[in-house]
Amino acid sequence: MRMEWIVGCWVLVGIFVGSLCWVSKEMKKKNESQNNKGAKVPKGKLGWPLIGETLDFIACGYTSRPVSFMEKRRSLYGKVFKTNILGTPIIVSTDAEVNKVVLKNHGNTFIPAYPKSVKELLGKFSILQINGSIHKRVHGLIGGFLKSPQFKDRITRDIENSVKLNLARWRHMQSPIYVQDETQKITFEILVKVLMSVGPGEDLNFLKREFEEFIKGLICIPIKLPGTRLYKSLKARERLLKMVGKIVEQKKKAMENNSIQETSPVNDAMDVLLRDGGDQNNETQRLPLDFITGNIIEMMIPGEETVPVAMTLAVKFLSDSPVALDKLRDENMEFKRQKVGSSENYAWTDYLSLPFTQNVISETLRMANIINAIWRKALKDVEIKGYLIPQGWCVLASLTSVHMDEENYENPYQFDPWRWEKLEAAVNYTCSFTPFGGGQRLCPGLELSRLELSIFLHHLVTNYRWVAEKDEIVHFPTVKMKRKLPISVTSTST
Ligand code: HEM
Repeated sequence: MRMEWIVGCWVLVGIFVGSLCWVSKEMKKKNESQNNKGAKVPKGKLGWPLIGETLDFIACGYTSRPVSFMEKRRSLYGKVFKTNILGTPIIVSTDAEVNKVVLKNHGNTFIPAYPKSVKELLGKFSILQINGSIHKRVHGLIGGFLKSPQFKDRITRDIENSVKLNLARWRHMQSPIYVQDETQKITFEILVKVLMSVGPGEDLNFLKREFEEFIKGLICIPIKLPGTRLYKSLKARERLLKMVGKIVEQKKKAMENNSIQETSPVNDAMDVLLRDGGDQNNETQRLPLDFITGNIIEMMIPGEETVPVAMTLAVKFLSDSPVALDKLRDENMEFKRQKVGSSENYAWTDYLSLPFTQNVISETLRMANIINAIWRKALKDVEIKGYLIPQGWCVLASLTSVHMDEENYENPYQFDPWRWEKLEAAVNYTCSFTPFGGGQRLCPGLELSRLELSIFLHHLVTNYRWVAEKDEIVHFPTVKMKRKLPISVTSTST
């Protein structure tokens, strides 16, 4: 038995060394490559065999300036350079225009590239992984629904209720209140409502519990044995599939029994996917029920942590910038006075039309860099701005580098909502501001997120004052507050 182990180990070592030689030979070939138009693979170092420059990448991620990994290499090799992180040769772009082309994805050249653990947890039909016409169809359906004025009208009431109820609880809670945890309660309720119309109660609690268990495995060692993190997360996914699958079945039955007419209002993303009949000319059909179930769960991933982190960081930046907070409060108090005077409901357009509030949100998103970079893999050789991206290589479009670049933003590390008064007027500034990505996969939750943030900030600053305890932002592996941002709150309304 022991002998078999030794032989096995040597075979493994042989395979390892063999692959190492092959990988380095292939990389060398590709490094030197140049296409017939003279475009070259960007300069840079691939670091140590296999681990490449991963250690430095992670070490920089843990500092208060995670882009220092990019900055060091950018000063040596230029805005686009090559490196090797997590065992993958990769081209990093800190250039807004190159990022734009990568995200635009003309000719379906780039596909999403996720670590193995993420791929395992996402079903193979997840919107985050599918490509081509099926991706276009699902993205269009969800994006169209979330953008529609009818949806925003309705969800505004739900967001207001959730924000008001949760903030009212803060009055009776013992200090400190942990903003990161509390905002997550608000946004999870809204997200589940948007995706499948489940309201507060046992089902919502079950979804929250299982979803938390599920996403713990997104960044972990990809081993699927009982007891491992990945295994536990996959089990949680199974339980989620069972519960969400039941809701899909119920809705489908209601549709078949005609208790829901094709013309009755669409309540949630699940309805949108269920009702789409496909396109006879394109020979597409209704989406299968298991496809819908999986996608509803997977759409919770980009929506779950992003908005509460943005809310928490807005509170943090405002706590550190009293002048900006005063101006935000003045604008929102004035808006409240007008509304109370006219006794009208707040419309979603009202919230989004407060200019300084929108500038605070843009500045928060720029500095927060909740999604710091987007990974893609090239399906063929691509040339962008004279750089050659060889087939099979990954590209990391660094959104943070662009947001924190002095060439794009003066004093980039300063929270300055006023900068947006000038930037909004500047031509093409959108190319340098991409917190929601861009192109074919532009976040369909963009407007919903801004609306949630606007409503949260409005009710917070017009009814409460707070003092934040000392805390700091952690950037790796995901952005959050080290101590979840503890604050003590006093109510200013009766
Ligand atoms: C501040 C909040 C948010 C930020 C910063 C954010 C950011 C992003 C980014 C950068 C992408 C592009 C990923 C890529 O290109 O691979 C994305 C995609 C996506 N987001 Fe968001 N997001 C936010 C909120 C939301 C919310 C609330 C929802 C759900 C309702 C949502 C749903 C999605 C979905 C489904 C995709 C995938 C789109 C596709 O691949 O076609 N996001 N998000």
